[in-house]
Amino acid sequence: MTITSFSPTVARSKRKDKNLLMIELPEPLFLKALNKQAVSRPPVWMMRQAGRYLPEYRAVRSKITFETLCTTPDLAAEVTLQPVDLLGVDAAVIFSDILVILGAIGVPFYFDLEGGPRISQPIRSASDIDKLVPAEPPSKLAYVGEAIRKVDAILRPRSVPVIGFAGAPFTLAAYAIEGKTSREFAITRRFLIEQPEAFSKLLSHLAEAIIAHLHFQIKSGARAVQLFDTWGGIMSSPEYRQIVYPHTKHVITEIQKAGVPIILYMNGSTPHLNNMLETGADGLSVDWRMPLDQVRQIVGSAPVLQGNLDPTLLYSKPEVIERKTRKMITDHGVSKLIANLGHGILPDVPVEHARAFIDAVKNYS
Ligand code: CP3
Repeated sequence: MTITSFSPTVARSKRKDKNLLMIELPEPLFLKALNKQAVSRPPVWMMRQAGRYLPEYRAVRSKITFETLCTTPDLAAEVTLQPVDLLGVDAAVIFSDILVILGAIGVPFYFDLEGGPRISQPIRSASDIDKLVPAEPPSKLAYVGEAIRKVDAILRPRSVPVIGFAGAPFTLAAYAIEGKTSREFAITRRFLIEQPEAFSKLLSHLAEAIIAHLHFQIKSGARAVQLFDTWGGIMSSPEYRQIVYPHTKHVITEIQKAGVPIILYMNGSTPHLNNMLETGADGLSVDWRMPLDQVRQIVGSAPVLQGNLDPTLLYSKPEVIERKTRKMITDHGVSKLIANLGHGILPDVPVEHARAFIDAVKNYS
């Protein structure tokens, strides 16, 4: 494992104990940017950075199922570290999945042969919702905490923070109701129209489970968290505001009380920028459909923006990737920016192209 640019300041402790030396680690660049401090370049990481585009990930994954990888802390920690060691990203997102929380509340899922998530008994009625149980992450999701502890023990001395995450209430509800991934989520939207009270009850139950899971990840060493509302963008902005937003905001407020910054991601973010802004999230992670400088004009100066290179642009030649990445940063400006993609990295992107994106950000001046 390579240790890069680690220059701790050794300071004498202010405590009376003269022999106690405290190592002051530099504040990670990612946390500086998320806390709106001045930085010389934006930090960079990629959603789904621990995944199939890396041969080293495929090597681990070829021997075991996705479920085994998620629930074995040593292996989850190993693949979490891969993009940090191989590409030099500025943060490590813990390897897990947004769906693990559904298993914990009593909605078991599995991944079929094509790799898509499947829920054998999707939620279809108010009585299904009454049967849900609390998530109790320290017991039922203990493997996530264990993986975070392992990664944090290795990365904290290198000033690379671990990002914890969860799905947002709406996106998790959409999977729980639909039973699989979908383009339109028609069953979910019908449920929401026909059974609005049950739908709200489901969002509330999920919000409490998400809060508990994020608190557990923070206690285990996560220094920032991201809430994925990947499918929130299928709703109209006014409906999202009325039905979904209160639950998303509740999660964000509760996490901020723990003093940890939170980033909200949404695919289809453009019509929802004001909804996202008003949640008060520290960072807004937006898709690629609107250039960041235009997003900034809409949301104003308060939030940090994260994004938003089109993930398919990573199929371009490295010099094109580099040029577009530099332009993205120049057009927005260096401060209050975390460079990322507008959605997860695609599994068949060449590693050298991912590296061109990361290096373009790291060499930005
Ligand atoms: O590197 C990281 O970002 C951390 C790990 C991570 C995974 N899933 C691993 C994963 C994270 C943050 C997620 C989030 C997630 N999972 C989301 C929200 C973000 C997004 O991409 O929109 C969603 C909607 C899911 C649900 C999910 N998990 C789907 C729809 C699929 C199948 C599609 C696919 O990419 O294969 C998964 C499986 C999954 N989750 C894989 C990985 C690396 C692929 C599993 C494999 O190795 O075959």
